[in-house]
Amino acid sequence: MLKGKTIVLGITGGIAAYKAAEIASKLTQAGARVEVVMTDAATKFITSLTLRNITGRPVVTDMFEPASEWSVEHIALSEAADAVLVAPATANTIAKFATGIADNMLTSVVLATKAPVIIACAMNDNMYSNPVTQENIEKLKDRGFKIIEPAYGRLASGKMGKGRLAELEVIIAKVDEVLGGRGDFKSKRIVVTAGGTQEPLDPVRHISNRSSGKMGYAMAEAARDRGADVTLIAAPTSLPDPAGMTVVHVRTAVQMKQAVDKAVKKADALIMAAAVADYQPKTAAKGKIKKESKDSLTLELVRTPDILGEVKGNFVKVGFAAESENTVANAKAKLAKKNLDLIVANDITDPQSGFDVDTNKVTLLDRSGKVEALPLMSKRQVAEQILDRVGKLVGKVD
Ligand code: C5P
Repeated sequence: MLKGKTIVLGITGGIAAYKAAEIASKLTQAGARVEVVMTDAATKFITSLTLRNITGRPVVTDMFEPASEWSVEHIALSEAADAVLVAPATANTIAKFATGIADNMLTSVVLATKAPVIIACAMNDNMYSNPVTQENIEKLKDRGFKIIEPAYGRLASGKMGKGRLAELEVIIAKVDEVLGGRGDFKSKRIVVTAGGTQEPLDPVRHISNRSSGKMGYAMAEAARDRGADVTLIAAPTSLPDPAGMTVVHVRTAVQMKQAVDKAVKKADALIMAAAVADYQPKTAAKGKIKKESKDSLTLELVRTPDILGEVKGNFVKVGFAAESENTVANAKAKLAKKNLDLIVANDITDPQSGFDVDTNKVTLLDRSGKVEALPLMSKRQVAEQILDRVGKLVGKVD
């Protein structure tokens, strides 16, 4: 959907400005005409020459520059745009958008345009979490701006926090979606599970696992961005609820089973990325278990229901297999045992793959016996790859 579209790419002055070059490149390669507008501060981080070479178009940096093909430039640009993407957007520029300040070309274009505006935030984590920035973002959301939240990761300050520019493919997918997008999952109902279940021992303790929920959340967001009607069934994670989908919070495997059984009634696909506990305490103590004088404590655990193995209905079933050895063989066995259409196997001993990281290296195995080892990629990219396959399978079951 990017082909032939005019996208105004606004770049503001943050360290992530250099990433805008790659965004401009991807959009241009996809067939869009990219008109870059840079704030003064942005030009300190990346040169307009780089952007001009990438887009093959003149780059606007100064509101009062005399010659370029746009007549009254900010008006002409704002009218020509099919979408305006601001990436990275700093707290300062976001504040200007929220209050209607138009003191440079970018803020003027955004104030004048009727096209959808997508804002990919990137800034210091304290600036992002500051209530004034959050209020500004809420204001913009209320006015229909599409906000791409920053990602969690290493910031320019050297510390970890939420402030990094979202991944490239997330940004491109959003632009695509806003422009009418891939939409290949339009009117499809997808149920995704995520996170690690917690099985209580008593009111204060539980048995759980290291799942961060990132893979499942990326799955749900990718399906949403491709037009699906998504239900995300989430075991506890530290991630915020994604917008634009139904989120059902559960704690235990039994609760997850109830939620899944209910949600799949109308589903086209169930994608179980959750790490479901295999065992739960036979009984959860009503009061806090006391230390007493015992040197050891024996817990009796019983099996949890195999949600994916037991679920019934005519929809595509996708499972995940986190393995520490014989990954492919074990995944193959699970695919057959649980009667799955597709299984996503990952070797959790690889530090860049699996728990808590933003990347994953998986092998996809399907019912027909096809085995595809994918290279290391972001969890979002893995999600897109899975959806490409699920899309074909959903087509068949229609
Ligand atoms: O057998 P294993 O637990 O490795 O299978 C993993 C797959 O099965 C995952 O997709 C997981 O969400 C699902 N599962 C389940 N119910 C369980 C255990 C795992 O649905 N009790």
